[in-house]
Amino acid sequence: MGIVVSIDGRILPPEEATVNVFDHGFLFGDSVYEVVRTRRGRPVTMEEHLARLEGSARRIYMELPWSRAAIAARVAEANAAGGNAESYFRIIVTRGVGEISLLPDTCRSPCLIVIVKPLPAPPASVARDGLRVLVTGRPRNDRRALDPSAKTGNYLNNLLALVEAHRGGCDDAILLNPAGLLAEATTSNLFLVRGGRVATPALECGILAGITRDLLLREFPARGIAAEEGSYGAEALESADEVFLTSTIRGVAPVTSVDGRPVGDGRPGPVTRRVAALYEEALDRLADAAGAPRSS
Ligand code: PDD
Repeated sequence: MGIVVSIDGRILPPEEATVNVFDHGFLFGDSVYEVVRTRRGRPVTMEEHLARLEGSARRIYMELPWSRAAIAARVAEANAAGGNAESYFRIIVTRGVGEISLLPDTCRSPCLIVIVKPLPAPPASVARDGLRVLVTGRPRNDRRALDPSAKTGNYLNNLLALVEAHRGGCDDAILLNPAGLLAEATTSNLFLVRGGRVATPALECGILAGITRDLLLREFPARGIAAEEGSYGAEALESADEVFLTSTIRGVAPVTSVDGRPVGDGRPGPVTRRVAALYEEALDRLADAAGAPRSS
């Protein structure tokens, strides 16, 4: 119960879950990954995550030897072994074991790892008080270098931005792209609300195509929420009425201060609360569609 790890199909307790030091995932960060969650015990948006995993692999010239169904089956096995009411899954594909050379040619086969752990409920303080963010001078990776649309094992730039944000007394950092336009937070996408309209940096700004972001953008029209994707300078953050972040783990999280200045009146705003509620409803619909029993 609790944390279990599947390594190439072997289900292991966390203390026995080890990787080979000659795996290029360990040596060079030569790996791709996804973070997926359950709703009422059922994985949600798995297909979208597996499609993105394939896209990430393609961008680093890695061919996945498993079908989406085979990966989903590994996740289901690990989920059953975990026995948690609600789970977090980290699906990692490393390049595999090879010689100490940047070239992946000697790597025999990729390694598929699934880490399952209980999914904690988001802290109530975030919905109540919001997050404090700072705009970091550390840019998001240039699309011409390691394209941020690939979710790879190279998170060091984001990690450093997050450490610096915490040192600055903030919860997260907003990164600008190399042209100085808003990109995203360290593991979340960014949304602004301006005059009742929701705006989010376009994929061309050099961000991860978040599954949560996409789900919301598809949900907005039917809910009568006006939304746009575009390019925004950092000043758009200062003048926004509301700001929120989205991710599989965070869901929809209000941001109430940027660089120490309050966003709007410094409280989570009405549009953000509405978006958070519709996200929860969307998750429930997905769980219903996956056959999850309704709790009484
Ligand atoms: N992070 N941007 C970045 C850089 C991310 O790492 C993530 C996800 C997102 C949001 O994507 P999604 O809505 O698909 O979760 C945006 C996951 C949660 C993580 O690495 O833990």
